[in-house]
Amino acid sequence: MNDIDKIIEEASAKINSSDIAVLESVKNEYMGKNGVLTLILKSLSQYSIEEKKVIGAQANRAKSVIESEIEKRKEILKKMLIDEKMAKEKVDYSSAFYFPFAKGSFHPVIRTIEEITSIFKSLGFSVADGPEIETEWYNFEALNIPVNHPARDTQDTFYLEGMKNVMRTHTSPGQIHVMEKQQPPVKVIVPGRVYRNEASDASHSATFHQIEGLSVGENVTFADLKSTLTLFIHKLYGQDVALRFRPSHFQFTEPSAEVDVQCVLCNGKGCRVCKNSGWLEMLGCGMVHPNVFKAVNYDTKKYTGFAFGMGVERLAMLKYGIDDIRLFYENDLRFLKQF
Ligand code: DAH
Repeated sequence: MNDIDKIIEEASAKINSSDIAVLESVKNEYMGKNGVLTLILKSLSQYSIEEKKVIGAQANRAKSVIESEIEKRKEILKKMLIDEKMAKEKVDYSSAFYFPFAKGSFHPVIRTIEEITSIFKSLGFSVADGPEIETEWYNFEALNIPVNHPARDTQDTFYLEGMKNVMRTHTSPGQIHVMEKQQPPVKVIVPGRVYRNEASDASHSATFHQIEGLSVGENVTFADLKSTLTLFIHKLYGQDVALRFRPSHFQFTEPSAEVDVQCVLCNGKGCRVCKNSGWLEMLGCGMVHPNVFKAVNYDTKKYTGFAFGMGVERLAMLKYGIDDIRLFYENDLRFLKQF
């Protein structure tokens, strides 16, 4: 009995170690193949039945006491190890923040939309929004592009399931939404994203941005169109830049024109960007076609108006000297950080 208590005492002292490996060897020393307690239990046969009972019970008690002490100690050591690791690996969050903070900036497309918008606001235009998913009526018919008209082919339309709706191919349907809700006088621009089913290259993208413009009232003339767009181009590219109005065709305007600006990169001398013509196409415009007014129940005898549409990426590319439209959509910070 005394021996067993001594054994437990001895073992406990050893178990107090802070080395997990020591615990394993203690286990072996007492309970292993040739462990102290194992040998005692093996030698029971030499005792009488009475002695066997007592010694056996005591040896087994010692075994379970030592075993549970080892387990308890192991748990404590494991926890200590984790605590130690946590203390060592602690992250100092305060050091992860540094000053000055890296500042974000507006995307060049958004910047350009903002700039164009503020010019038109200063000329008395308000800003409206339209849906990116349109019915064919808004995207085509109401704009005097009837079913089966060849002009639809030039638009590379994305049709949605069921062929009823389309991703808008231009912001011109924005005109229709505005006129449906409002009687003249109307002076509005509609910026937004448009979609075309075409392969992308340096100057084409399946999605890009346009700004539509519309001015309707009594006595709105082509002279108003010219003066408004001349003012706009001069504010955007500078007072000295030359521009010209060239006859063109759009279904929703009659007469129609395109505005060219003297190449801002070579000053009209001729370069790769203006294809040696010295001029850059800037936007489409014209006097609103009576069929468009009829679609929104405007009185065609009382009102006239002009409309225009421009591609935002194209204007931004010329303003900032960017030669590949795809740069706008790649979100490469080295590009974006320059704006
Ligand atoms: N919607 C035309 C396009 O996507 C641009 C345009 C041209 C809009 C002439 C107009 C306009 O309002 O009068 O190419």
